[in-house]
Amino acid sequence: MTTFHLPIDRSASAPIHRQIYEGFRRAILGGLLRPGQRIPSTRTLAVELEVSRLPVLTAYDQLLHEGYIEGRVGSGTFVSAALPDDLLRSAPPPGARSVAPRRATRSPLRAREEGGLGPFRMSVPALDQFPHAVWSRLVARHAHGLTHAQMAYGDPAGLVPLRLAIAEHLRTARAVRCEAKQVLIVSGSQAALRVAAAVLLARGDRVAVEEPGYPGARAALGAGGAELVPVPVDEGGLSVAALQKLGGRVRAAYVTPSHQYPFGTSMTVARRLALMGWAFRRGAWLLEDDYDSEYRYVSRPLGALQGMDAHERVIYIGTFSKVLFPAIRVGYVVVPPPLWERFIAAREAFDLFSPTLYQLALAEFLREGHFARHLRRMRGVYSERREALLAGLARHCGDYLTIHNSDAGLHVAVMLSVGLSDVDVVRRMAARGLTATALSTCYAGTTRRSGLLLGFGGSTARRLLEATTLLRDSLRDSASRSASGM
Ligand SMILES: Cc1ncc(COP(=O)(O)O)c(C=O)c1O
Repeated sequence: MTTFHLPIDRSASAPIHRQIYEGFRRAILGGLLRPGQRIPSTRTLAVELEVSRLPVLTAYDQLLHEGYIEGRVGSGTFVSAALPDDLLRSAPPPGARSVAPRRATRSPLRAREEGGLGPFRMSVPALDQFPHAVWSRLVARHAHGLTHAQMAYGDPAGLVPLRLAIAEHLRTARAVRCEAKQVLIVSGSQAALRVAAAVLLARGDRVAVEEPGYPGARAALGAGGAELVPVPVDEGGLSVAALQKLGGRVRAAYVTPSHQYPFGTSMTVARRLALMGWAFRRGAWLLEDDYDSEYRYVSRPLGALQGMDAHERVIYIGTFSKVLFPAIRVGYVVVPPPLWERFIAAREAFDLFSPTLYQLALAEFLREGHFARHLRRMRGVYSERREALLAGLARHCGDYLTIHNSDAGLHVAVMLSVGLSDVDVVRRMAARGLTATALSTCYAGTTRRSGLLLGFGGSTARRLLEATTLLRDSLRDSASRSASGM
């Protein structure tokens, strides 16, 4: 298939080869075809246009001769990577976009894909340790064997073998009380929150969110018009005393009890009981985001809030983004049975169902024990990375920050010394190739603490240790700028 519309008019006076030549020329100058982009072989194009090969060969010859396209031995024909300047300067045909800036600027899409994977990047697991060989074998096997039924529309609830495997994992690893028939597969926890909000929150309803908290959750929960009410977090987790003072109309609370985002604390048992008591008495829902609970380094992991809930007020949300990789876009919701039909309807309305191929591969990945093995191995990897980061922070950055919490998950929260602006530090870090998150950006209200969230999942221990010296330089720059009042 051509990548643009190439109209051929057999009744026109211009010969076919000329029409093909002009069509390509217009598409290249207009930016529809980009430098370096492959174009069809002469044989394919002739078939596609239902013309003989001769006019296509003639047009391609001329385009080659004039430098619009180039042939690469063994790999085909491409729009010239370096188009002659005089071509680029020539006025584009009416209505066409100029091709020139495309080569000079990086598109924002590209920047998002490639950039920002420097040390301390939040929410990125150890992609270098992912068992690619096993995963690609499973994906390939299922891709080859896809039946027509598997290529058609899938079950909005998700594939049964995957739901069975997830339920088993959650019961044993997270003490979640669930059966596969309660497990709803969604495209990540962000989607889970959107679906939950659609079911539970009407426009104008109030939903309590942790302050500071996960900005993605705020975006998802507020998307349908619910009012977000920030509730402070202390060492025990979300303050239930503050929640109680809010009075009625709070329909739900979003919490990260295993590993509070961003502080990293885990909600005490007393607080969990108080929270569940609040939800039961008010008839409110608890949205439990268990996003990276699998990794704990100091104390034993606490089970999920959902497993302690006797009244089915908890909607449990999990994701494979941290334990496998974010681009897999598979998450899940454990839905209280009375809400199941409404969740299914909302999920279907949202994006029908999750891609079947990945679900098939993932189900097998879990069933064959690769997932459990990967988790076990990653605990050691992350423990080493975390220790390297903590050692580097202690050695190089102690004058500027204090470590708030580092017991679990894939990041360490640090507080900056008085006078340091986290946004300024993050900007200086970015100039040195480091990608951190400013704690102040996690607040919805105006009272904000200055700190950094330093992800350690995605970089090797050595890289992290080196990066702490660059972090120190960034902190030092920022401190001297703020001391000089600039
Ligand atoms: C607290 C929290 N919940 C959810 C997510 C997103 O998960 P997903 O990729 O499944 O949407 C993140 C990602 O960083 C997170 O930090």
